[in-house]
Amino acid sequence: MAEVSAFIRNMPKAELHVHLEGTLEGDLLLVIAERNNISLPFDDPDGIRRMQNETKTGLTNNLVNFLRCLDICREAMRTAQDYYDTAMAFVRKSAAENVVYLEVTFDVQQAIRQGVPLAECIEALSRVRREAKRDYDIEIRWIACFQRDHPVQNAMETLNLLDPHRDEIVGIGLDNFETPNFPALFAPVMAAARDRGYRLTSHCDVNQPESLAHIRDCVDLLGVERIDHGLNTAQDITLVKKIVSQRIALTGCPTFHVSMTSAPSDRVEMIRTLFDAGALISLNTDDPAQFGSGYLNRTLAACQAAAGFTDEDMIRFMRNTFESAWIDDRARSGYLERLDRFRDTSARAVS
Ligand code: ADE
Ligand code: ZN
Repeated sequence: MAEVSAFIRNMPKAELHVHLEGTLEGDLLLVIAERNNISLPFDDPDGIRRMQNETKTGLTNNLVNFLRCLDICREAMRTAQDYYDTAMAFVRKSAAENVVYLEVTFDVQQAIRQGVPLAECIEALSRVRREAKRDYDIEIRWIACFQRDHPVQNAMETLNLLDPHRDEIVGIGLDNFETPNFPALFAPVMAAARDRGYRLTSHCDVNQPESLAHIRDCVDLLGVERIDHGLNTAQDITLVKKIVSQRIALTGCPTFHVSMTSAPSDRVEMIRTLFDAGALISLNTDDPAQFGSGYLNRTLAACQAAAGFTDEDMIRFMRNTFESAWIDDRARSGYLERLDRFRDTSARAVS
């Protein structure tokens, strides 16, 4: 496992692609499951990772198996308190890692399906946002994600339900596994979200069927500003030029596999290609509790070690994160200046 350097540890950091439900660690999951009378297929905190490992087929990123295991964990969340507790645990971990800004995704349809009143859920998330700022000086923005394996109609209805909570949600995303032709299918929902002023992103997971077509269609048909993952872009030079010239941000996730202690090489190569081509690519954790690959510090360290990125490169990745964040120009300048000050101080310390 890559050592986390003082440089990585002390850098002011942010991430834009992390699922609230994917931060639910085994110890808290057991507490939540017990108070909701949910039985899990394991009774120890390590059970999540074991279950993920046992159902993996080889070294391939088997998204369907991964999501099935994630479902067993996230289906235990039945109350607004569960959302609050999970989010606060993640905030505390992030604070310990010198994270200053977070955009966190949550599966809003799942919360509703599981009986959490939407207003209570959003109020819990709002409280987390305020307490994170007050107690840890961490800025949080929430992204509501629609699930592609559920009917478009349900996504549209859920978008309407979010109207009274518009101010608490910065953007709309698409996640779960990629149904064929999902970009065209979800175009009306994303257009309606854009009309309401939401920022837009969509998952295009690594090495999925039709990855390149999906990435292209997310940009052209959905008009997204960011793609979550989107690493396969690296395999098509025309697409690379397109995302660079249109400044489409990619929220890369270098680690994903539970049994791995380093970033897998195909991901790292794609990240390297995109980084060298000048893409606005950032590094993120996605579902840290499920992967067992660590939170942001360990994720950055694993990617740096695997690709031989320099400390200066790591600063550029973090610049990309702040450049792709859904914040106003004043806040962006503030974060970038903070990052520059950190880099200058670190350079003086070693010279
Ligand atoms: N939900 C949580 N993690 C996800 C991922 N990597 N892809 C799609 N949906 C997800
Ligand atoms: Zn994700």
